[in-house]
Amino acid sequence: MHYPETAIPLRDGTTLTIRSAAPGDAEAMLACLQETTAETPYLLREPEEPGFTPEAERQFLQGRADAPRDLMLLGFCDGELAGSCSFSPVGPFQRVGHRCEVSVALYQKFWGKGIGTRMMTAVLEQAKAAGFEQAELTVVADNQAAVALYEKLGFVRCGTLPRNMKYADGHYADVYWMIKYL
Ligand SMILES: CC(C)(COP(=O)(O)OP(=O)(O)OC[C@H]1O[C@@H](n2cnc3c(N)ncnc32)[C@H](O)[C@@H]1OP(=O)(O)O)[C@@H](O)C(=O)NCCC(=O)NCCS
Repeated sequence: MHYPETAIPLRDGTTLTIRSAAPGDAEAMLACLQETTAETPYLLREPEEPGFTPEAERQFLQGRADAPRDLMLLGFCDGELAGSCSFSPVGPFQRVGHRCEVSVALYQKFWGKGIGTRMMTAVLEQAKAAGFEQAELTVVADNQAAVALYEKLGFVRCGTLPRNMKYADGHYADVYWMIKYL
């Protein structure tokens, strides 16, 4: 779905500009995913695992732009991509039509400026307007910044999924399953 370009002041006096992603953002999105995956251990991929090709990413973004209940939101500071935040349905069936999944990832240099709060707030508002009744996510239990962000926004922990991720070095991570009623 479409989200118009919107300027949001940050507490350090700079401006965050948010808008929905378009197919032309494919290469920037792939670079962002690659870099953020290397900067934090809390995302799904190992840094050396291959991602989409640019053409597959363009098609993926076109599909998300065309879908009525799906949003990939990008955030920019001074024209530079800071990261992305999104919601999408958990599945195509009526019995899960009230539930969406949300995610957020920023480049490390943009952490701690309130951008995650602003982008998640916009995404949650749009998810509610799209008719979802609850937003859900999983987060690595050690990811203190993300857990704090989600709890600040009203998500509650609904359980722990043990050994949910297994890293290349063989260690496991538990994740929290968190829900916010919209
Ligand atoms: C998680 C992430 C999105 C947070 O975004 P952010 O813009 O840095 O967060 P904000 O600045 O809006 O901070 C939100 C709240 O989180 C908390 N917080 C932020 N950084 C924190 C830290 N390092 N430790 C503990 N709490 C922290 C604070 O309570 C803060 O609220 P406050 O500013 O009112 O005090 C960002 O760190 C990130 O992209 N991390 C890497 C990817 C990732 O882990 N994504 C989530 C996967 S589930």
